[in-house]
Parts: sequence; structure tokens; C-alpha cells
Amino acid sequence: MCGIVGAVAERNVEAILLEGLRRLEYRGYDSAGMAVVSPQGALQRRRAVGKVAALAECLGDAPLPGRCGIAHTRWATHGRPSETNAHPHQSGEGLAVVHNGIIENHEALRRELVADGYRFDSETDTEVVAHLVARERGRHADLLAAVRHALARLEGAYALAVVSADDPGTIVGARKGSPLVVGVGIGEAFLGSDPLALLQVTDRFVYLEEGDVVRLSAGGRVEVFDAAGAAVKREVQTFEHGDGAASKGDYRHFMLKEIHEQPAVIAAALEGRLGERAALVESFGPEAEALFSRVRQVHIVACGTSYHAGMVARYWLERFAGVPVQVEVASEYRYRRVVVPEDTLFVTLSQSGETADTLAALRFARERGYLASLAICNVPGSSLVRESDLCLMTQAGPEIGVASTKAFTTQLTALMLLTLALGRVRDLAEETQAELVAALRGLPRLVERVLALDPQIEALSTAFAEKHHALFLGRGAHFPIALEGALKLKEISYIHAEAYPAGELKHGPLALVDSEMPVISVAPNDELLDKLKSNLQEVRARGGELFVFADERVGIEEAEGIRVLHLPHVHEALAPILYTLPLQLLSYHVAVLKGTDVDQPRNLAKSVTVE
Ligand code: AGP
Repeated sequence: MCGIVGAVAERNVEAILLEGLRRLEYRGYDSAGMAVVSPQGALQRRRAVGKVAALAECLGDAPLPGRCGIAHTRWATHGRPSETNAHPHQSGEGLAVVHNGIIENHEALRRELVADGYRFDSETDTEVVAHLVARERGRHADLLAAVRHALARLEGAYALAVVSADDPGTIVGARKGSPLVVGVGIGEAFLGSDPLALLQVTDRFVYLEEGDVVRLSAGGRVEVFDAAGAAVKREVQTFEHGDGAASKGDYRHFMLKEIHEQPAVIAAALEGRLGERAALVESFGPEAEALFSRVRQVHIVACGTSYHAGMVARYWLERFAGVPVQVEVASEYRYRRVVVPEDTLFVTLSQSGETADTLAALRFARERGYLASLAICNVPGSSLVRESDLCLMTQAGPEIGVASTKAFTTQLTALMLLTLALGRVRDLAEETQAELVAALRGLPRLVERVLALDPQIEALSTAFAEKHHALFLGRGAHFPIALEGALKLKEISYIHAEAYPAGELKHGPLALVDSEMPVISVAPNDELLDKLKSNLQEVRARGGELFVFADERVGIEEAEGIRVLHLPHVHEALAPILYTLPLQLLSYHVAVLKGTDVDQPRNLAKSVTVE
């Protein structure tokens, strides 16, 4: 989704803004732009369709000197990707705005502003903000007051940054529904959609809250005002992961780097959360023990990959903690007349903590009488974390590749911890708890062993590069893993892929199976193995080519039309985590063979901050 950078510094800001945009590329975008107030007090703008590199080229030809500026990567919502629709949007020659989110009442505002004599150049919803602020600037003493009055007219979601030639050395930012952070420098101040954009200049951040308006001015002055307009102090937090998190290191792609980080980040997700023979319930917060002992139902809500993690958790929570679980995609849940049984725990899962639908679902749930809300999230300080009663951070570190990998396996790790915590307060046998704790401790080592199979997985990928479709099969808790495998292949290789619980095959999808349809199956050593083997025979009998990731102990061997990769034996409850890895690597290698943009696949955004 759109990315925002802003800087008021003691030096020219063009390079800071450009580097910030490069660091936001992972969010997904189709055009980029920048506006800077020059030393002479004139506002100048450059915009380009396509990658940030195209904007850089344009700036190479016509630089933007000046110590105060804003920049943006646009992910088209209103109006196609074009230079005219790219941000910043201006009102006249003196005022520019960048925006992330959607202004829902833009049509009515546009009519009003046109009637007032304002000329519109773009098809975007954002341009109304530029004209509204400009109109208010004519009525008020400074940019801050003008922005505040303009905000009062906006419906929808926004993170905004505004500069004006009449207020040199000042940026006014605002957030409502879309993320915005302030980077605190020495004698300088910055704005960014996330801290990663600004790590080249600072590691100290203020996470703005809903309704906050901020004014950055010369000398690094930062003034925050809450939704009611009162000056407030917000905590300055230090970013823990270091700047290396935003670079690929020796890897060809962020996705590959993030796949290979999984042993370390799974270990980090477990760090300090396991006792000798049980999970530490207090990892979920001091009130967790009292709350968890009251839980009689769990509702899990998430989107995309995070939703798949929730689907796996349903199997775990029902089996080990004995609680009924509902799992639903946030975009459906938020518009349903949900019936909430007494003492239901509401759980959201999100890498970013800013996904618009998940956030809206949480806000909807807060009005529905849940026992409490728990966020399992990867981004500290994100909206989801701040607005939930309890949280457990997944500790995966920044995930830059659009295709979620380490965020998923750490979510699963966190969900197993939740299963153990709820199981503990609900009398899960101590032996079972101890067994799962021991298995969790051994998991990072097993993940390393699966990663060592990468050359064999890469060899398998050649069979997919020319295919147009693929079918993924799994049973039980591995059905969501099949769904996740299909999603990974779709999003980065653009090969159409579907996933089915293997038992559903003969109820329809078997009709698709022929020699052109590769069928990928995960076959851990669990109670459904024999049934899965029969399903695989059904595929072979129709000439389908099978690719099976199987436990080394299950006795599935290669034969004509069946390629088998053996995975190390793992406690069957944790197999969904381990079996995710070969599917991630397979998709990655297929995408590389196909030459797609692995880290920023077409049409997709990393953090979906609009509905
Ligand atoms: C998965 O590879 C995608 N990036 C996408 O499905 C993602 O999981 C979804 O948009 C939810 O994002 P979140 O975890 O940040 O809420």
C-alpha cells in the first residue's frame, strides 16, 4: 500500500526521502513522487510512474534542493497508475499533500471544491485534501490549524503529510486508520509509514495514535496533538532490530533471506516463554492467567496467510485445550451479525498489525461483549497491538517480502504457545504439555534440516515453471498448509493454484487431474496418513504427476509419476510448521525460474491498509 516519508532537516532532504521510498518499496506501489520546499521558499515537485528508480532518474535530471519535503509511493485505488495520479498532490503552486488510505466522501467534497473554483488535475480521492487544506490555510494563521480544520471534513482512513510554501520548514502529519510514525533525529525530524523507511537516519520513533496530528519544524521540534486538539506527549521508542533488518544481506531476495531466518526467529518466538515442562501463561500479559481460565470459546479473525495460521490453530486448540474455535477472514467477519457466546476470547493474527479489515474486525468485536481481545502480531506499536487487551509478539523481525514466510511460522509457534497456555489452565495432561514443550524446543533444529534440502526442492521446481495450474492437497491441520502453499505459488509465480482437503478430491477437483496438473501433497506421519495415501493413488490412477513431501518414516517412496522428498521426523502436532518450509522454497524457486518480481509481486501490497 502507499508509503509516506517526510523530513525536516539541517541538510537537503532529497536523498533521505529517496532512500525512505526505496525502503518502502516492499509495501507495493505503482508510482512515486516527491515535493520539497526550496531554499528560496518555492514548492517543487517530481513524479514518475513505475519504480522509485524512475523517480530517482527524474531527480538526477532535475534535483530538488531544500530542507523540508515529503515523498510517497502510490498503490492505485482511485484512478489508474499515472504521473497525474501520483502523489504529492498540489493545490496551486504552494501546497502539497501525500496520503495513504481512502477518503470516502471525496466525491461530495470534490463537487463542493469545484463549485468554489478549485481545479482538479487527477482522478484521486487525495486531491480533495490538498484543496481543502489550501482553502483552510486562507482562513487560518498557520498550516497546523488549516490541516486540523480540513481533517474535520474528511470521512475515511488516512495517514497524511502536508507541506506549504507559506510555512517553510514545517510538515504537518495526521493519522486516522492508516499508520504513521515520527522519526526523532538530532536537530531533525522525520515522518514515515513505518520505521523501516527511516532507519538510515534514526532508530528512535514515536508511534502516532488514532486521531493524532503532528507538527515537525526546524531544529527537530516535534509537537503532537490528540484527536481533541490537546498537546500530548507520546513515548519515544527505540527500534530493536537494527538497520540490517531492512537489507537483503547476501541473499538474492528478501523472501529467501526471510525463509532462511526461520530457525532463528522461531527460537526467538519461544525465548522466555517456555518453562521446563509447560508454557509460561504470563507471556501473554499479567492478566492472562485469570482471563484464560474463564475462556470457553475462541474466535480467530485474520486475513490471507495469517488466516491460514488461524485455521491450523483451530485443530490445536480444540484437540489440546478442548475449546471450541471459530476461524474467519476479517473482511467477512466484520460485516456479519456475529453471535458471541459468553466468555469468548477474540484473537486477531497479523504480521503488520495494520491490516484494515483485521483492525476493523477488532473494533467491531470490541462492541460485541467478548471476554477479551488478544493480538498475535509481528509489529510492536502497531494499531492492532495498541488496541487489544493482550498481545503476544511473534518476534520475527521486519518482514519485507510481500509473500509472508517467517511471519507465518512464528505465528504458528505463537499459536502453539497459546494452545499450551489455554491447555494448562484447562487441565491438559502434564505429560502432553511436557512432550509438546520438548518438541517446540527441538523445532528450530528441524527447520534447519529442512532448509538444508533446498537444492533438492530447487530441482523439483523445474517441473512447475511451464505449468499453468497446480493442486495442493493436505488433510487435517495440513489442509491450511496446503492452502498456504497454494497462496505462495499464486502470489509470487502467478501460477493458478488451488488447495483441497485431500478427502474432497473425488467430490469434484479430480476432474481437473491429468498429466498437465502437478499435484503437491504434504504427508506427515499422522493419523490421516493411510487415508491420504489412498487419495494420492486416486491422483496417480488419473495420470496426475505427484510431488509429495513426506515424513522419512512413512514409507512413501518414489515411483513412476511420484516424486518424493523426505522430511525429518517431527512431533505430529508441529508438522504443520515444518511442512510449510518446502512449500515456501518450492514457490520461491518456481518464481525465480519464471523471472517474476519475487519480493514485490504485481498488484500486491505488503500491508493492506485499505479495505
Ligand atoms: C501473504 O503472503 C500475504 N502477504 C497476505 O495474504 C497477508 O498475509 C495478509 O494481507 C494479511 O496481512 P497481515 O498478516 O499483515 O495482517
